[in-house]
Amino acid sequence: MDHEQFRQAGKEMIDYVADYLQNIRERRVLPTVQPGYLRALIPDQAPEEGESWREVMDDVERVIMPGVTHWHSPQFHAYFPTGNSYPAICADILSDAIGCIGFTWIASPACTELEVAMLDWLGRALALPEPFLASSGLGGGGVIQGTASEATLVALLSARSRRVRQLRQQHPDWTETAVTGQLVAYCSDQAHSSAERAGLLAGVRMRQLPTDSKFSLRGDTLAKAIQNDTARGLIPFFMLATLGTTPSCAFDALPELGAVCERQQVWLHVDAAYAGSAFLCPEFRHLLDGVELAHSFNFNPHKWMLINFDCSAMWVKRANDLVDAFNVDPLYLKHDKQGLVPDYRHWQIPLGRRFRSLKLWFVLRLYGLAGVRAHIRRHVQLAQLFEQRVRADPRFQIVTPVTLGLVCFRLQATNETNEALLKAINAAGRIHMVPSMLRDTYILRFAVCAASTEERDIELAWAEVERQAGRLLPPP
Ligand SMILES: Cc1ncc(COP(=O)(O)O)c(C=O)c1O
Repeated sequence: MDHEQFRQAGKEMIDYVADYLQNIRERRVLPTVQPGYLRALIPDQAPEEGESWREVMDDVERVIMPGVTHWHSPQFHAYFPTGNSYPAICADILSDAIGCIGFTWIASPACTELEVAMLDWLGRALALPEPFLASSGLGGGGVIQGTASEATLVALLSARSRRVRQLRQQHPDWTETAVTGQLVAYCSDQAHSSAERAGLLAGVRMRQLPTDSKFSLRGDTLAKAIQNDTARGLIPFFMLATLGTTPSCAFDALPELGAVCERQQVWLHVDAAYAGSAFLCPEFRHLLDGVELAHSFNFNPHKWMLINFDCSAMWVKRANDLVDAFNVDPLYLKHDKQGLVPDYRHWQIPLGRRFRSLKLWFVLRLYGLAGVRAHIRRHVQLAQLFEQRVRADPRFQIVTPVTLGLVCFRLQATNETNEALLKAINAAGRIHMVPSMLRDTYILRFAVCAASTEERDIELAWAEVERQAGRLLPPP
């Protein structure tokens, strides 16, 4: 494809994308294909000679679209949202064209410097404490990771490395393996599965602590666990608190946990993957209180901030904790400006990194913070509308408070009946939701996801839930 052909093809692709998103309501949100469907639609081998653009584009509808789950359909209410907006898509096109791998400052100075600046913009908009901001000069700063899972792992590995170093300085005869074997990390029994995974990858115990009746982890529970483990000769070193849990959007008691961690010298990492975007709104900022006690904080702009995957924002108060944990310095990656600006390769697990801050820059400038807040508030209002519909039907109950854009609800019936309801809803394919288990209770999760969701979509969704429920239980 030469430059002129790209101009044509690119314009056609932009039109295709705009048509796709504009008319997405016409598509069935959940595909009906069976596993292995795609192999039968394409040849066994790559073509020897290049094909035409037209042939490839024609196959998008024939091969790809039948197997797409339409995450940006206003009928998609599963998991949590994933971001999407035209400014972010445009920024990603530019990022792909520049195509740099910004592992060090010199590898593309704009890539590093815009990221430092954007994480400061975002940090200020969230009213993060100064030590998290690079511009404060206190040794902290932000970085874009690919996912919240990576951020958790980076925090855990940094905390592990810091604690091992400290202990070996105090006890030079202790081996690294012996110290690591005694380490223990904590999260709640509601934490995302990536916490357990991080424990496995880091080779340390990850204890899932019980939550209270609101699915929130409390400080006294952590304090007791630390006391028990210390009495057994173990070394507590890391706590992962969740703000906005995946099963029910519950909030751990961050100020309480922070106070315990401070007393016990335990690294506190805050995972607000979904809920973090809401903290841009002053009325939700109180949910982040206690972050001043954290060592690291992370949320996913690629979830709820109109930014396309991937863009997971992470801040640390002491960047050197990351650099010390991940620093390897081969000659071919050295440059003469080292130390003056971050070399982000030391802040993450892979070496390579894309120019992801462009998406933040475009979205923050084209929407403004006011535009982003309006998007969050609209979603919260839509969730409240769905909640009202649920509350008005005595067959149903709301299971947990609707704080942001997630409604957890169920029929006042057995788990099996609720499971049958969700199965029927997803089989009909008008809307898509996923369940979760809260202790022994099966619940349905209704998340407001697509940026284009409107009241009519909420009414459609509720009508579908009622219709399917009517087949299982008589109408009220
Ligand atoms: C609270 C929480 N943490 C972590 C994650 C994992 O996010 P990622 O896919 O960015 O790793 C999720 C995903 O929904 C989540 O809800």
